[in-house]
Amino acid sequence: MKRLGKTVVHGMVAATAFAAFVAQAATIRVACSGVGQEFELCKGAAQAWAKKTGNEVQIVTPPNDASERLALYQQLLSAGSDKIDVLQIDVVWPGLLGNHLLDLKPHAKGAEKAHLEGFIANNTNDDRLVAMPWFANAGLLFYRKDLLQKYNEEVPMTWDDLTAVAKKVQDGERAFGNDKMWGYVWQGRAYEGLTCDALEWVVSYNGGTIVDKDGTVSIKNQNAAKALQTAASWVGSISPTAVLNYAEEEARGVFQAGNAVFMRNWPYAWSLAQGDDSVIKGKVGVAMLPKGGTGGRNAATLGGESLAVSKYSKNAVAAADLVMYMTSAAVQKERAIKGSFNPTIVALYKDAEIITANPFMGELHGTFTSAVGRPTTVTGPRYNQVSNQFWNAAHEVLSGKAEADEALGRLEQSLTRLGRGGKWH
Ligand code: GLC
Repeated sequence: MKRLGKTVVHGMVAATAFAAFVAQAATIRVACSGVGQEFELCKGAAQAWAKKTGNEVQIVTPPNDASERLALYQQLLSAGSDKIDVLQIDVVWPGLLGNHLLDLKPHAKGAEKAHLEGFIANNTNDDRLVAMPWFANAGLLFYRKDLLQKYNEEVPMTWDDLTAVAKKVQDGERAFGNDKMWGYVWQGRAYEGLTCDALEWVVSYNGGTIVDKDGTVSIKNQNAAKALQTAASWVGSISPTAVLNYAEEEARGVFQAGNAVFMRNWPYAWSLAQGDDSVIKGKVGVAMLPKGGTGGRNAATLGGESLAVSKYSKNAVAAADLVMYMTSAAVQKERAIKGSFNPTIVALYKDAEIITANPFMGELHGTFTSAVGRPTTVTGPRYNQVSNQFWNAAHEVLSGKAEADEALGRLEQSLTRLGRGGKWH
């Protein structure tokens, strides 16, 4: 009996220890997006965390298209699903998804103070830090240094300059061998990415930010119309008609194959263009997007991504630990060097290795600090509807289905109704 009892006790001890081990070794499901090197780098860092902590990670890939990704998250989160623990979220989503996300403040323990202040403010909902900043984005103009030199042209300062230079180089290259050459590639698909591009055009022509800070809809104006009409003139001329269905990766595909003079994209495109297998390695420059004429300004839309923990996660503590690791200075540095993802930790902009790998992060610092935010704060829970209507109106103009004046007139009316005379929230 005594022996048996002892065995049982031992067995119980072992079982308890095993249960504790199982409870500690969590499996965390991480939704990493897959644009460019995003998936690879996200997976690598998540696995490094798993190895360090004895947990496991499973990587799931939501769609690359930001708008499709949002729809999927909304569906999962509104059903209270625990299928995803950690979510990569866009800078424009904390207001839309915040109620479903864990407050990370107690887990960050002050680490958030090292990040860009604006990003932390953006990710704070009613005093809750709903996501940790991961990387910052701003729209950039990528150009072929070699081709500008060959045609004795400068980096364009205005959209009219860009249009002329793109046409000249495109025609010249087509006449001498590369009949696939295009002047300018960008994001023209009807999705969040078009909101980013079109906002840049509109702001660069001093056409406002769709909805003003005080809640007034301001998109129906001559400058905004001029901006959209200018972009529409590129389609089928310096930009392929297929641009109407391009997201980031389609534009990069054309540029990186050596078939475009200019490209609008986010910073991630730099490290890929500079990769050993890239035919344009060493031939690419990065500049601010052009101004809308002499009275206009350079405008880059502010983008970026954060990591958040679902409130419905069964392993919230481990998931939050993973998020803190993935957004740490060491991981952000690695991602900046390998993937040209702009850090959100301020001190990393003084890191010589990061700046050497990505000269534009130093040279174009002002582009990032002055980047234009989308009207998320003022429109709150209605931001996605605002953006959706804006990108549809822009897409109609680009595809020649409507004149800019007409499309913006309708958009203004519809947004005014949606905003109930300024009462967006
Ligand atoms: C990038 C940006 C994001 C933007 C999206 C549009 O992912 O980080 O802010 O909404 O592109 O495609």
